[in-house]
Amino acid sequence: MANKDREQWGSRIGFILAAAGSAIGLGNIWRFPTVVGQSGGGAFLLVYLIITFLVGIPLMIAELTIGRRGQTNIVGSFKKVAGDNWGIIGALGVAAGFIILSFYSVIAGWGVAYIFKFLTGELANLGAEEVGNVFNELTSNPIVPIFWHGIFMSMTIGIVILGIDKGIEKASKLLMPILLVLLVLLAIRSVTLDGAMEGVSWYLRPNFAAIDRHIILSALGQAFFSFSLGMGAILTYGSYLPKKENIPGSAVYIAIFDIFIAVLAGFIIIPAVFAFGLEPGSGPPLIFITLPAVFGAMPAGTFFGLLFFVLLTIAAVTSAISLLEVVVAYFIDELKWDRKKASLLAGLAIFILGIPSSLSMGVMSDNLIFGMPFLDFMDYFASNVLLTLGGLFTAIVIGWVWKTSNAISEIEKSGDKFLLATPWAFLIKWIMPVVLLVIIVNGLFF
Ligand code: TRP
Repeated sequence: MANKDREQWGSRIGFILAAAGSAIGLGNIWRFPTVVGQSGGGAFLLVYLIITFLVGIPLMIAELTIGRRGQTNIVGSFKKVAGDNWGIIGALGVAAGFIILSFYSVIAGWGVAYIFKFLTGELANLGAEEVGNVFNELTSNPIVPIFWHGIFMSMTIGIVILGIDKGIEKASKLLMPILLVLLVLLAIRSVTLDGAMEGVSWYLRPNFAAIDRHIILSALGQAFFSFSLGMGAILTYGSYLPKKENIPGSAVYIAIFDIFIAVLAGFIIIPAVFAFGLEPGSGPPLIFITLPAVFGAMPAGTFFGLLFFVLLTIAAVTSAISLLEVVVAYFIDELKWDRKKASLLAGLAIFILGIPSSLSMGVMSDNLIFGMPFLDFMDYFASNVLLTLGGLFTAIVIGWVWKTSNAISEIEKSGDKFLLATPWAFLIKWIMPVVLLVIIVNGLFF
């Protein structure tokens, strides 16, 4: 796309909401509580918060800056700031987008199915065990969840073909605050359940002894996943930023918003898990079993349940379009396909790749890969390996190829001084490459 014709964000708040729309999604509400549960509660939370500040926010600034400098997609932007050979990082990002969306859509599809189950009353006023049965019946069926996965992918593809029009932007401006209010209500209901306090303390009390390299890798993967980092989604959003925009300021807003929603989701799920006597480490199904049971213990629970899963689906769609958009933009630019063809073919391929993830909850549940069901493996590989590697290369490119001084002068084109420029540059150039490499290698191989 010619630079002078390139669209730009209309307003600062429009950009922040769009980037927050990409960041906030299943990663906050489904994945965060799942990973907290699998990683021992308070130990994870502390490591996660440290990583979001020391790695997440600085890398978000880095991606936005490369994008604004490059004014194009991930491949083109890396080529522009670092030379043609670095376009290869873009391929890594495209692969990550492909894989993440394939299982993301399967999970989002469960959420869409739940909308209908609340509408028909199938999920009304149930206890945790009964909800568990409904969930297992849904996900172990070989056909039905694939149908919902297809519905979710079709919505995502449709929006990416039509372009992200005003309607969606307006709708999310209105709906995201409603989601926030609903989450606060749910958190209050959850922490006041009988026996919930045990969960609250499990969630908040840092257990230093439990911190190990796997927890650190999971926290890193979760930070990348939740902030939409490591594969060019945030970079692409940065490419639409006007020069006057203050990048570090925006990054801090988006990050804090994102962390807040995730921590809040933890306050809903974890206390409920303890109150209902469930197992916190039970993985991806966790929220689909605890949440309806929390609604079941509330007045007007069916109404709130319905509302919640509608909002969750919308939050998931706004994230999914940013995943598909990275893949589609690549096909359009590199293979010269038109937008419709690129969206349909990429979307179809992603749908097909999602099928084994869906089946891994039922007929294929005995086929483990590195001890994990296919869905968990795809998630682990894409988030903890591909995204973190994407982040590592981003730091190396800025620190050693493009140079932090050039990045800082791009950031300061807004006219504001970047107050933390020196510590940021030091982190990106010296600390980040070493720390990320150590975490990745240790977490994966030892
Ligand atoms: N961050 C989104 C979520 O939390 C998911 C997502 C959207 C994503 N775009 C991404 C994850 C890019 C990694 C990379 O639900």
